[in-house]
Amino acid sequence: MKLLAGKTTVVTGAARGIGAAIALKLAEQGSNIAFTYVSDSSTDKANLLVQQIQAMGVQAKAYQTNAADYAATEAFINSVLSDFGNIDVCVNNAGISKDNLLLRMSAEQWNDVINTNLNSVYNVTKQVIKPMMKAKAGSIINMSSIIGIRGNAGQSSYAASKAGIIGFTKSIAAELGSRNIRCNAIAPGFIETDMTAYLKEGDAGNAFLSKIPLGRFGKAEEIANTTLFLASDLSSYITGQVISVCGGLNI
Ligand code: NAI
Repeated sequence: MKLLAGKTTVVTGAARGIGAAIALKLAEQGSNIAFTYVSDSSTDKANLLVQQIQAMGVQAKAYQTNAADYAATEAFINSVLSDFGNIDVCVNNAGISKDNLLLRMSAEQWNDVINTNLNSVYNVTKQVIKPMMKAKAGSIINMSSIIGIRGNAGQSSYAASKAGIIGFTKSIAAELGSRNIRCNAIAPGFIETDMTAYLKEGDAGNAFLSKIPLGRFGKAEEIANTTLFLASDLSSYITGQVISVCGGLNI
């Protein structure tokens, strides 16, 4: 029996990177997948992902919508409910970084990162808890970051958004545990995706590597494996926690 047979999962920002790996992993374990992407340039990738997921024998649909927009997110979740009937798992994965030292960081850069990374988690979670409360079951997984735990020079907006996600996660776990809704966060370390491609090369890349006890960057699939664990009943007594998936970087 597959771990998520008959379930429906919402994943934000899944046309590529960690989100795409999560969509594929959860589909492989039997979950239907409703995922979002934001820009026109991702439409081809999103359509390809839908085909890959459907080939696994589950339902899939891509929705072009901005998770940072409250009204658009409310409409998106209503569409998912009418298309799929229920939402059992929600993965708040969408995120951006606009790194700059605070002295040079504009209010626009700050607000973009907080809106996309943190407000989106509020927007989506606020909507998905309604069907989850009705069903008296649900698992919400929020993508934080090791940077939200330890901070990093040049990443104050990103760190603040990811630390905010941790506080939100623990609060929602406390609010909704009695309804059998679990809420956990994952704190990835340095995972090889488009977001980190520019950091990987040369001296900067070697400096990062030297701080990772496992001696390598992580793969999107390794975040997807942890997401599957948190989405499924394998983690049925785990809520309000942050799991670091970082090759030991935080120690
Ligand atoms: P990525 O840049 O490859 O993917 C991010 C996805 O989010 C993209 O598909 C993008 O279109 C989507 N997105 C951005 N803004 C959106 C919005 N407003 N609404 C809907 N979708 C939106 O990045 P990656 O590496 O796959 O990151 C996924 C998540 O993991 C992010 O939250 C990121 O902060 C987090 N993370 C990544 C790490 C890494 O090393 N790659 C480390 C720690 C956390």
